[in-house]
Amino acid sequence: MNNLKIKKICCVGAGYVGGPTMAVIADHCSDLKVNVVDRNEERIRNWNHKDISNLPIYEKGLDQIIKRTRNKNLFFSTKIEDAIAEADMIFISVNTPIKNKGLGAGQTSDLRWVESCARKISLHAKGHTIVVEKSTLPVRTAKTIKDILFASNDDLNEKNKKTFSVLSNPEFLAEGTAILNLEKPDRILIGGEDKKSIEALVEIYLRWVPRKKIITTNLWSSELSKLTSNAFLAQRISSINSISAICESSGADVYEVANAIGKDTRIGSQFLNPGPGFGGSCFKKDILNLVYLCNYFGLSEVASFWESIVRINQWQQDRIYKKIVESLFGNISGKKIAILGFAFKAGTNDTRESPAISISKNLLLEGAKLAIHDPKVQPSQIQNDLSDYLLTQEDNNKDLKNNKSNLMFFTDIYQAAEGAHALIIITEWDNYKKIDWNIISKNMSKPSWVFDTRGILAKDKINKYGINFWQLGDGSGKN
Ligand code: NAD
Ligand code: UGA
Repeated sequence: MNNLKIKKICCVGAGYVGGPTMAVIADHCSDLKVNVVDRNEERIRNWNHKDISNLPIYEKGLDQIIKRTRNKNLFFSTKIEDAIAEADMIFISVNTPIKNKGLGAGQTSDLRWVESCARKISLHAKGHTIVVEKSTLPVRTAKTIKDILFASNDDLNEKNKKTFSVLSNPEFLAEGTAILNLEKPDRILIGGEDKKSIEALVEIYLRWVPRKKIITTNLWSSELSKLTSNAFLAQRISSINSISAICESSGADVYEVANAIGKDTRIGSQFLNPGPGFGGSCFKKDILNLVYLCNYFGLSEVASFWESIVRINQWQQDRIYKKIVESLFGNISGKKIAILGFAFKAGTNDTRESPAISISKNLLLEGAKLAIHDPKVQPSQIQNDLSDYLLTQEDNNKDLKNNKSNLMFFTDIYQAAEGAHALIIITEWDNYKKIDWNIISKNMSKPSWVFDTRGILAKDKINKYGINFWQLGDGSGKN
């Protein structure tokens, strides 16, 4: 019989993971009080916004869950210390981006937010607390967290000493399908040493997840499985993207190839969609983390194997940009180019590491005027993303700054395409599949080009209006 009865949960970090994950837990466990805390006041204000369409994160089905649970057993606040003090179980769900300076810069995770979170927990927790790593972390971070948690005990007398147990419970949700993934996960992974703490967390998930889907491992296997899982998924994308280039050169069609290989049950059909390269906040950072670990352990061959996945991903984005420039006679200076889709994938408003950023940046540097359309991403976000690049590019790229006014935003696809020399599909939003090419063909500059990096358009429907068409991985022009 498990005697660690959890009544109050705290989650530090109200982001893409913390918000939806805790909402689903609260929805299934009405007897638990779930406090989601964040130091970002605006984010918390939006989670508490009366108008449910103002939630800081767009995920299908999330609004309904928030309606059912908010201010009943799910609370969003900035009172981090209070929530820590009353919690029996604390999830750390803060951001873990790649370090941008110092030791391991560009490779290992910046753990400053995890560390500050652990320090706060160490100071404010009371009695026995189970601390759960929800953030994706380098292997053996649990040891660092433990060391920090127990450090505050040094100043306490024996009677007041606190106890902690640390679990790893990585999150596998994908943006755009977060609620579905949380409601029906392929598996729940819990790593830890203390059986009672593991069982306490298992009992929470058991409210809606079948026991056979709950895997328990040691801490390090759990931490490493998360990195490995993302690395394998990203590896499939780089593999099929590398094949897309061979298809274009050889006369094969990457969709036919993907379909043919995916029918082999040992390979499987998922994650074989070629595209402009993987984006999102995690694939690149998690692989780079793995690379860093490999080098740390002296496994340089293993490191370069995984590093190549990231290299191919960047190469794919670069070759698309080059294809566009070459097709437009090697000169895009002053030409209007419509970019359809800026999110890193359909179904989300997230643009982190979106291939649209690097492709747009290169087009801007060549002097193009970009007309950007995305059904979910705010223009201010896009402006930020492109000026972020400027910041990292040093002085020699000052041109980009001058081109800032060459960014135009449209809520109407047809207006975005008006007068454009080229139209590029970067995100696979459904409404791009329903474009009326007859209208578009009349309004674009001639010769007009459409570049479909997601394989969502039918060539014959576009060619018949006299538009030049390039589709990623389509080598049929070679025949
Ligand atoms: P996010 O940036 O959306 O959210 C993190 C939040 O933590 C921010 O709102 C930030 O203000 C808050 N925060 C940071 N430090 C804090 C502190 N000390 N106290 C209080 N609040 C603090 O990040 P995310 O996308 O939710 O990712 C969180 C973690 O989950 C990362 O490690 C990521 O790798 C992992 N992950 C993300 C996804 C995804 O789809 N986004 C999926 C699986 C795992
Ligand atoms: C990914 C994983 O799928 C999640 O399991 C994981 O929890 C998460 O990372 C994380 O750790 O953050 P996410 O990045 O939200 O989820 O989205 P994916 O659906 O995996 O797509 C990532 C990128 O790969 C997108 O740019 C997408 O367009 C691209 N992709 C995906 C392809 O180009 N082809 C595919 O076949 C699949």
